Amino acid sequence: MTPWERRCMDMQTVEEMLKAKGRDVWAIGPDATAYEALEMMAEKNVGALIVIEEGRPVGIFSERDYARKVILKGKSSKDTRVRDLMTEDLVCVIPNDTVRECMALMTARKLRHLPVIEGGRLRGVISIGDVVNEVIMNQDFKIQEMEKYILTGH
Ligand SMILES: NC(=O)c1ccc[n+]([C@@H]2O[C@H](COP(=O)([O-])OP(=O)(O)OC[C@H]3O[C@@H](n4cnc5c(N)ncnc54)[C@H](O)[C@@H]3O)[C@@H](O)[C@H]2O)c1
Repeated sequence: MTPWERRCMDMQTVEEMLKAKGRDVWAIGPDATAYEALEMMAEKNVGALIVIEEGRPVGIFSERDYARKVILKGKSSKDTRVRDLMTEDLVCVIPNDTVRECMALMTARKLRHLPVIEGGRLRGVISIGDVVNEVIMNQDFKIQEMEKYILTGH
Protein backbone atom coordinates (compact mmCIF):
# COMPACT_ATOMS: atom_id res chain seq x y z
CA MET A 1 0.00 0.00 0.00
CA THR A 2 1.36 3.46 -0.90
CA PRO A 3 1.61 6.29 1.69
CA TRP A 4 -1.26 8.02 -0.20
CA GLU A 5 -3.50 4.94 0.11
CA ARG A 6 -2.55 4.44 3.75
CA ARG A 7 -3.50 8.06 4.54
CA CYS A 8 -6.83 7.72 2.72
CA MET A 9 -7.70 4.65 4.81
CA ASP A 10 -6.37 5.80 8.24
CA MET A 11 -3.82 3.03 7.86
CA GLN A 12 -0.68 4.95 8.80
CA THR A 13 1.45 3.03 11.19
CA VAL A 14 2.34 3.76 14.78
CA GLU A 15 5.93 4.10 13.54
CA GLU A 16 4.85 6.94 11.22
CA MET A 17 2.98 8.64 14.06
CA LEU A 18 6.03 8.38 16.34
CA LYS A 19 8.22 9.88 13.62
CA ALA A 20 5.91 12.91 13.55
CA LYS A 21 5.25 13.34 17.29
CA GLY A 22 8.50 12.08 18.82
CA ARG A 23 9.60 9.07 20.80
CA ASP A 24 9.83 10.47 24.32
CA VAL A 25 8.61 8.17 27.05
CA TRP A 26 7.92 9.86 30.38
CA ALA A 27 8.16 7.26 33.10
CA ILE A 28 8.29 6.93 36.88
CA GLY A 29 9.26 4.23 39.37
CA PRO A 30 6.59 2.36 41.36
CA ASP A 31 7.87 3.64 44.71
CA ALA A 32 7.36 7.30 43.80
CA THR A 33 4.37 8.94 45.48
CA ALA A 34 1.23 9.94 43.60
CA TYR A 35 2.21 13.56 44.31
CA GLU A 36 5.60 13.11 42.62
CA ALA A 37 3.87 11.51 39.65
CA LEU A 38 1.44 14.44 39.38
CA GLU A 39 4.35 16.89 39.52
CA MET A 40 6.04 15.05 36.66
CA MET A 41 2.83 14.93 34.61
CA ALA A 42 2.40 18.69 35.07
CA GLU A 43 6.05 19.39 34.19
CA LYS A 44 5.96 17.22 31.05
CA ASN A 45 2.40 18.27 30.20
CA VAL A 46 1.11 14.69 29.85
CA GLY A 47 -1.83 12.81 31.33
CA ALA A 48 -0.12 9.49 32.05
CA LEU A 49 3.25 8.04 33.01
CA ILE A 50 4.59 4.61 32.23
CA VAL A 51 5.71 2.84 35.42
CA ILE A 52 9.11 1.22 35.05
CA GLU A 53 10.76 -1.16 37.50
CA GLU A 54 14.22 -2.64 36.88
CA GLY A 55 14.09 -1.43 33.31
CA ARG A 56 10.76 -3.14 32.58
CA PRO A 57 7.36 -1.47 32.05
CA VAL A 58 5.13 -2.81 34.84
CA GLY A 59 2.13 -0.48 34.59
CA ILE A 60 0.72 2.91 33.72
CA PHE A 61 -0.38 5.70 36.06
CA SER A 62 -2.86 8.23 34.67
CA GLU A 63 -4.88 11.22 35.82
CA ARG A 64 -7.85 8.85 35.88
CA ASP A 65 -6.06 6.52 38.33
CA TYR A 66 -5.39 9.55 40.52
CA ALA A 67 -8.97 10.82 40.38
CA ARG A 68 -10.53 7.46 41.12
CA LYS A 69 -8.03 5.79 43.43
CA VAL A 70 -6.75 8.75 45.46
CA ILE A 71 -9.28 11.59 45.53
CA LEU A 72 -12.46 9.51 45.56
CA LYS A 73 -11.01 7.10 48.13
CA GLY A 74 -10.03 9.99 50.42
CA LYS A 75 -6.32 9.06 50.29
CA SER A 76 -3.37 11.46 50.48
CA SER A 77 -1.28 11.87 47.34
CA LYS A 78 1.89 12.33 49.43
CA ASP A 79 1.42 9.06 51.34
CA THR A 80 0.29 6.81 48.50
CA ARG A 81 2.73 5.04 46.20
CA VAL A 82 2.31 4.72 42.44
CA ARG A 83 2.69 0.93 42.91
CA ASP A 84 -0.66 0.85 44.73
CA LEU A 85 -2.47 2.99 42.17
CA MET A 86 -1.10 2.03 38.77
CA THR A 87 -3.00 -0.03 36.23
CA GLU A 88 -0.93 -3.18 35.83
CA ASP A 89 -2.71 -4.54 32.79
CA LEU A 90 -0.66 -2.76 30.11
CA VAL A 91 -2.28 -2.78 26.69
CA CYS A 92 0.47 -2.01 24.17
CA VAL A 93 0.85 -1.58 20.43
CA ILE A 94 3.77 -2.32 18.12
CA PRO A 95 5.28 0.04 15.50
CA ASN A 96 3.58 -1.82 12.63
CA ASP A 97 0.06 -1.40 14.06
CA THR A 98 -2.12 1.17 12.29
CA VAL A 99 -3.97 4.31 13.42
CA ARG A 100 -7.19 2.40 12.82
CA GLU A 101 -6.05 -0.44 15.10
CA CYS A 102 -5.09 2.07 17.82
CA MET A 103 -8.53 3.69 17.56
CA ALA A 104 -10.26 0.31 17.79
CA LEU A 105 -8.18 -0.69 20.84
CA MET A 106 -8.75 2.63 22.61
CA THR A 107 -12.49 2.41 22.01
CA ALA A 108 -12.90 -1.26 22.91
CA ARG A 109 -10.73 -1.13 26.06
CA LYS A 110 -11.59 2.48 27.04
CA LEU A 111 -7.94 3.55 27.04
CA ARG A 112 -6.35 6.89 26.35
CA HIS A 113 -2.68 5.92 26.22
CA LEU A 114 -0.96 3.06 24.42
CA PRO A 115 2.70 2.31 25.14
CA VAL A 116 4.57 1.27 22.00
CA ILE A 117 6.69 -1.85 22.51
CA GLU A 118 9.19 -3.43 20.14
CA GLY A 119 11.44 -6.35 21.02
CA GLY A 120 10.49 -5.97 24.68
CA ARG A 121 11.60 -2.31 24.71
CA LEU A 122 9.50 0.84 25.05
CA ARG A 123 9.62 2.86 21.84
CA GLY A 124 7.10 5.63 22.57
CA VAL A 125 3.57 6.46 23.67
CA ILE A 126 0.48 7.10 21.54
CA SER A 127 -2.38 9.04 23.17
CA ILE A 128 -5.98 9.49 22.12
CA GLY A 129 -5.07 13.08 21.15
CA ASP A 130 -2.37 11.78 18.79
CA VAL A 131 -4.89 9.48 17.10
CA VAL A 132 -7.55 12.20 16.81
CA ASN A 133 -4.93 14.58 15.41
CA GLU A 134 -3.92 11.99 12.80
CA VAL A 135 -7.52 11.32 11.79
CA ILE A 136 -8.21 15.06 11.41
CA MET A 137 -5.09 15.46 9.25
CA ASN A 138 -6.23 12.53 7.12
CA GLN A 139 -9.69 14.05 6.68
CA ASP A 140 -8.15 17.37 5.60
CA PHE A 141 -5.95 15.47 3.16
CA LYS A 142 -8.93 13.57 1.71
CA ILE A 143 -10.95 16.80 1.31
CA GLN A 144 -8.03 18.45 -0.52
CA GLU A 145 -7.65 15.45 -2.80
CA MET A 146 -11.38 15.45 -3.61
CA GLU A 147 -11.38 19.22 -4.27
CA LYS A 148 -8.38 18.75 -6.58
CA TYR A 149 -10.21 15.94 -8.40
CA ILE A 150 -13.41 17.98 -8.77
CA LEU A 151 -11.51 21.00 -10.10
CA THR A 152 -8.97 19.27 -12.35
CA GLY A 153 -10.47 15.82 -13.03
CA HIS A 154 -7.38 14.01 -11.69
N1 LIG B 1 -2.01 19.13 18.54
C1 LIG B 1 -1.50 17.94 18.74
O1 LIG B 1 -0.71 17.47 17.97
C2 LIG B 1 -1.89 17.16 19.95
C3 LIG B 1 -1.51 15.83 20.06
C4 LIG B 1 -1.91 15.14 21.22
C5 LIG B 1 -2.66 15.79 22.20
N2 LIG B 1 -3.01 17.10 22.05
C6 LIG B 1 -3.84 17.81 23.04
O2 LIG B 1 -3.37 17.53 24.35
C7 LIG B 1 -4.48 17.39 25.24
C8 LIG B 1 -4.47 16.07 25.97
O3 LIG B 1 -4.11 15.05 25.09
P1 LIG B 1 -4.41 13.55 25.38
O4 LIG B 1 -5.74 13.37 26.02
O5 LIG B 1 -4.15 12.82 24.10
O6 LIG B 1 -3.35 13.05 26.45
P2 LIG B 1 -1.98 13.60 27.00
O7 LIG B 1 -2.12 14.96 27.59
O8 LIG B 1 -1.49 12.55 27.94
O9 LIG B 1 -1.03 13.63 25.71
C9 LIG B 1 -0.46 14.80 25.20
C10 LIG B 1 0.77 14.40 24.38
O10 LIG B 1 1.77 13.83 25.26
C11 LIG B 1 2.13 12.52 24.84
N3 LIG B 1 2.30 11.68 26.04
C12 LIG B 1 1.37 11.37 26.96
N4 LIG B 1 1.89 10.61 27.93
C13 LIG B 1 3.18 10.41 27.60
C14 LIG B 1 4.26 9.69 28.22
N5 LIG B 1 4.10 9.04 29.38
N6 LIG B 1 5.47 9.68 27.60
C15 LIG B 1 5.63 10.36 26.42
N7 LIG B 1 4.67 11.05 25.81
C16 LIG B 1 3.45 11.08 26.38
C17 LIG B 1 1.00 12.03 23.98
O11 LIG B 1 1.45 11.05 23.08
C18 LIG B 1 0.51 13.33 23.32
O12 LIG B 1 1.29 13.60 22.18
C19 LIG B 1 -5.72 17.50 24.40
O13 LIG B 1 -6.22 18.79 24.56
C20 LIG B 1 -5.24 17.25 23.00
O14 LIG B 1 -6.02 17.91 22.05
C21 LIG B 1 -2.64 17.79 20.93
